[in-house]
Amino acid sequence: MCGIVGMLGERPAAPLILEALGRLEYRGYDSAGIATLDSGRIDRRRAEGKLGNLASVLTRLPLAGNVGIGHTRWATHGAPTEGNAHPHGTSRVSVVHNGIIENHAALRAELEAAGQEFSTETDTECVAQLLDLYLQQGMSPEKAAGAALARLEGAYALALIFAGHPDLMIGARHGAPLAIGFGEREMFIGSDALALAPLTRRIAYLEDGDWAVIRRDGATFFDRHGARVERAIRETRLTGAAIGRGNYRHFMEKELHEHPVVIGDVLSRMIDPSSRSVALWDLPFDLATLPRATISACGSAFYAGLVGRVWLETIARLPTDADVASEFRYRAPPLPSEGLGLLVSQSGETADTLAALRYMQDEGQHVLSVVNVPESSMARESDAVLETLAGPEIGVASTKAFTAQLTVLACFALAAGRARGTLDAAREAVLTQALMEVPGQAAEILSEETTAAIARVAERIAEARDVLYLGRGSCFPVALEGALKLKEISYIHAEGYAAGEMKHGPIALIDKHVPVVAIAPSGPLFEKTASNLQEAAARGGQVVVFSDAAGAEKLCGIAAETVVLPTCDPFVAPILHTIAVQMLAYKVALLKGTDVDQPRNLAKSVTVE
Ligand code: F6R
Repeated sequence: MCGIVGMLGERPAAPLILEALGRLEYRGYDSAGIATLDSGRIDRRRAEGKLGNLASVLTRLPLAGNVGIGHTRWATHGAPTEGNAHPHGTSRVSVVHNGIIENHAALRAELEAAGQEFSTETDTECVAQLLDLYLQQGMSPEKAAGAALARLEGAYALALIFAGHPDLMIGARHGAPLAIGFGEREMFIGSDALALAPLTRRIAYLEDGDWAVIRRDGATFFDRHGARVERAIRETRLTGAAIGRGNYRHFMEKELHEHPVVIGDVLSRMIDPSSRSVALWDLPFDLATLPRATISACGSAFYAGLVGRVWLETIARLPTDADVASEFRYRAPPLPSEGLGLLVSQSGETADTLAALRYMQDEGQHVLSVVNVPESSMARESDAVLETLAGPEIGVASTKAFTAQLTVLACFALAAGRARGTLDAAREAVLTQALMEVPGQAAEILSEETTAAIARVAERIAEARDVLYLGRGSCFPVALEGALKLKEISYIHAEGYAAGEMKHGPIALIDKHVPVVAIAPSGPLFEKTASNLQEAAARGGQVVVFSDAAGAEKLCGIAAETVVLPTCDPFVAPILHTIAVQMLAYKVALLKGTDVDQPRNLAKSVTVE
């Protein structure tokens, strides 16, 4: 959600900032801008729309200077116009911001009364005007920053540069992440380490409330009370090389094709193939005595959590709740002492999930997070972390991170089952064997033959106005995921439903124009799902079946289309079926000609509520 970059060095800043913004464009692509300091004066270029528009502006009107800040925006306050694009500022100061300044209206009124003239509708401009006022009152930039930050309410990551101060950049964080990069007489600011990956691997993360005064030879850190603090410099594992699109048309396509490798990587860290057992981690709590688990997450990550709930309940007999983080955090549910709080997040920065994590901590839970970014806020604030390590996911719609989350949760459920005595070694061997077969089966789903079958189904779906996805048990969340992915990238309305719930309402929607996509692997719930599909077919619904060969054969009488997926243990079916429904959404989006990697109105890493 909004990407921030800053650079202070000896090379021309604007081209490097533009390149780094390209690595952050997944955070927002409504508008973009860069400001630099040239001979002590602030100069800026901004453009509405994607980064390419800003690049064209810069080709016509280059920016000089080796100090600068840049921004790619996901609009919160104010339309995504060039005028509202960041950086914002005055002749004295320039500001880029990610987040929401909640008291902006009060600050604006106060500043206008003091004679400051605003030129945009954004909440961010009040930060610039506040700094400008303090600078006019004779404060140094550092003093002005400290004083201004103390007045801000809400969430922010900020980068600031000041006219007449060519060896100064200030970064601040409250509720939205910010990384400081250390180079050779070059310093950087980035929303995440990915932005800075080719520039430096030496990163320090600001803690909540921190701000940093950055000069070419290093940074000085202050906490929320203005006290000097030390922040460790870590070597990030990210490299710039990991984020190319290769020969694929879209990042989403590339990331779909990474499923087998990513799942394989998770398994190779978590499963001992010789004993066919899961490695029990050195967790700072005892799985055997947990009274309850509470899962919280947002969007696709929440759906992964819902599958995790089924596994924890059935395999480990661990009572488990799951709730979307935006509801959970305000419902303030009572949690049992010494329970497990389980957060799932690709970015590790999603504002609501982070708030849920902190709530769980306050409620005395052991907090475990399943995250893809090892340096993220959630990873750093949790008692223990299970890394999905799916590599950078650039497509805004989550794909490989989701199946990596599922794989981690599957292994975790097995470990919990073993610790709690609900899973014996023989059964564990069967289930780990099933997991070990997933990478190969995932590759089969990505084969030309199966993707061609999915592409045929896509032609039917692309014509529809509404689509219903149905599943049961651990495949109900897959129906939710399939519907979400279709909505996100093809803009076709879709609903995911528990198959058994269909007759309690949504069946009224069914006619010959509404495709019903069934996630129906063989297994204990197959017959139940099949009878729901009969009900849909009897009302003229076009039933599209995703199943294995045996299931497909049983449903051939009612299916308008069938996609045959590999035969697998029902335990791993949600992982494999996810790949197929994600691919279906991708193929439909191709037919619709939408912007697959950067769908309208969306952004990745939602760091505001
Ligand atoms: C959907 C999608 C989103 C994210 C959600 C949570 O394709 O990507 O629904 O799953 O915004 O994000 P993370 O996992 O970063 O917390």
